[in-house]
Amino acid sequence: MKFDTPATNNPIDQLKIVGKPVDRIDGPRKTTGTAPYAYERHDVAPNQAYGYVLGSGIAKGRVTAMDTAAARAAPGVVAIVTTLDMPRLEKGAMNTAWLFGGPDIQHYHQVIAVVVAETFEQARDATAMIRVSYAREPGRFDLAAEAPNAQLAAADSGEGSGAAHEERTGDFEGAFAQAPVTLDATYTTPDESHAMMEPHSSIAAWEGDKLTVWTSNQMIAWGKRDLAKTLGIPAENVRLDSPYVGGGFGGKLFLRADAVLAALGARAARRPVKLALTRPLVANNTTHRPATIQRVRIGAERDGRITAIAHESTSGDLPDGKPETAVSQTKLLYAGANRLTAMRLAVLDLPEGNAMRAPGEAPGLMVIEIAMDEMAEKLGMDPVEFRIVNDTQVDPEHPQRPFSQRQLIQCLRQGAERFGWSRRNATPGRRREGNWLVGMGVAAGFRNNLVMKSGARVRLDGSGGVTVETDMTDIGTGSYTVIAQTAAEMMGVALEKVTVRLGDSSFPVSAGSGGQWGGNSSTAGVYAACVKLREAVAQRLGFNSAEAEFTDGQVRAGNRSAPLGQAAGADGLVAEDHIEYGDLGERFQQSTFAGHFVEVAVDVATGETRVRRMLAVCAAGRILNPKSARSQVIGAMTMGVGAALMEELAVDKRHGFFVNHDLAGYEVPVHADIPHQEVIFLDEVDPISSPMKAKGVGELGLCGVGAAIANAMYNATGVRLRDYPMTLDKMIDRLPEVA
Ligand code: MOS
Repeated sequence: MKFDTPATNNPIDQLKIVGKPVDRIDGPRKTTGTAPYAYERHDVAPNQAYGYVLGSGIAKGRVTAMDTAAARAAPGVVAIVTTLDMPRLEKGAMNTAWLFGGPDIQHYHQVIAVVVAETFEQARDATAMIRVSYAREPGRFDLAAEAPNAQLAAADSGEGSGAAHEERTGDFEGAFAQAPVTLDATYTTPDESHAMMEPHSSIAAWEGDKLTVWTSNQMIAWGKRDLAKTLGIPAENVRLDSPYVGGGFGGKLFLRADAVLAALGARAARRPVKLALTRPLVANNTTHRPATIQRVRIGAERDGRITAIAHESTSGDLPDGKPETAVSQTKLLYAGANRLTAMRLAVLDLPEGNAMRAPGEAPGLMVIEIAMDEMAEKLGMDPVEFRIVNDTQVDPEHPQRPFSQRQLIQCLRQGAERFGWSRRNATPGRRREGNWLVGMGVAAGFRNNLVMKSGARVRLDGSGGVTVETDMTDIGTGSYTVIAQTAAEMMGVALEKVTVRLGDSSFPVSAGSGGQWGGNSSTAGVYAACVKLREAVAQRLGFNSAEAEFTDGQVRAGNRSAPLGQAAGADGLVAEDHIEYGDLGERFQQSTFAGHFVEVAVDVATGETRVRRMLAVCAAGRILNPKSARSQVIGAMTMGVGAALMEELAVDKRHGFFVNHDLAGYEVPVHADIPHQEVIFLDEVDPISSPMKAKGVGELGLCGVGAAIANAMYNATGVRLRDYPMTLDKMIDRLPEVA
């Protein structure tokens, strides 16, 4: 099905099951330990051996020799594969860093060996016996030091919002020079780790030249293609299976070393091998959100209208890598005739930088939304009103392109009302409760809505049951549930009559889980397959398919009706289709919006910050399931607290690695850090986005949160921080004046 004209009325609009806050259908499995992580799939292949990987102890240079004699003689060892055993493997289309092979070292903890043994402990023990000799070369590990050498660089929209290397509209410099009120400030965001609960894990088994990998991956089709390419085997010989994913946040969008080394280890051991990356390797072997240095300049008239806005970002990556697209939202968020956005890329020899939840917008809004707060203060305007004055209903760079829906003003107004914004004292440092300085902050949330081609197969059986198969993944998002709701609504059956099977590359290729495109796109693919199945059902029953109504397990047309299952016959009835998109995404700007409101308290003596209350008002198209959507948003808001106050991969600038490479050193919020969250979804249906009229929400909840916290901290204390995370050491020396 081609979606190239706006959706009209369709069976989803009945909203009997779609749009209801139904519990996640995989909930009982999740809470009883029967939705296993990839590493715990003991039953999928017999005689599994354990793999353990060795990461490079240098960040740049060469492996000159590896002595594996002691390791090979160690108890239980079945096989060892080292990087010197083979030339460098092909790189997957989505990979920047090499994953294995050859002597050259590109980054710290690049995998240089896998040891396979009867037990995990034996594999780990033998790995420690491998003696490695290196020729170390100097590397570039310091973004600030390399920033002057950074070059303009573009990024495509593969897993986020793209942006060209430099874009200009009007005359930014001229307008900025003329503006009566201006801001020119530089901000930084740190390297961050996805820190998902389930580390990257795979079990690999060969049958002749056919490879099956039970893994944990967000994008099955990308993984299958890139694993085949990396191993140099035909893609049809590779099967990936990933029915449950214990979090990804972008860290599992791409093929990583676990799948490659499990496959190589299994080939050498001639038996199935299971392998998980340890926490240090999650930080230093896989990908991370790269640090940024961002300069923002805004010029406005005294009435608050922005006349000039510039946002420039510098980030680093390995050679052939790409920049963090931190300026992408600034192209679309606010009006203003004279505009400049630019991205620069510095070459660094740190592990690969790549997509992490809301790549681009998350770190970009952490900055631009502090800058907006600073401008509002300079203008003497309320920060909510300043944003509203600068709203735009069209793409400011291409004014002939309207937004499909844009309710940013409504998000901000309703949020202000609900949060009690009128009680905020605009003068910082004025509200004190004992030792606590209390303040409120606001930020706009913005994330583009991306759509992806997505396929599904649906089967009807004689009892009226419907089975959906698609390689879509559920990364904790609720894919199983919204897909079941979609099929139940389309076929007119109860939710319990629908079985959903996900994550297997032998199923039709889906949108996968990334870029908050998964919910809308994958259900639209199921919609397309169900339209086909409805036609096949009507034909079998001799009904006119345009007239047929599917309700309560019955098909009705005119004065005739028949049980749905009757159409299935002995063998069942199968339909397969996919949704693909025309040019509505070019003709209309599709985005999602939020108003984020936060109240914090800062200890006047220690500078310790506590988030007290958070509110997100979101406008993101039709909400397919308010319960799972709310879970997405509160999880993202929690991630925003981490980004604001805690999360930072500390770079060892001498040796080139992330020092705090575990969950003891890399802090993320815990329950006690998050006392109160509220989420409101505005009524919205977006017929431009898909037949589901939905948009993405999983990343929107993060976008803007960090800045809302920064602005609340400023309102509490009068101390303006421009460097994340906003830990107490950055504030404490300025607090005594406040106290
Ligand atoms: Mo997302 S960073 O595209 O999983």
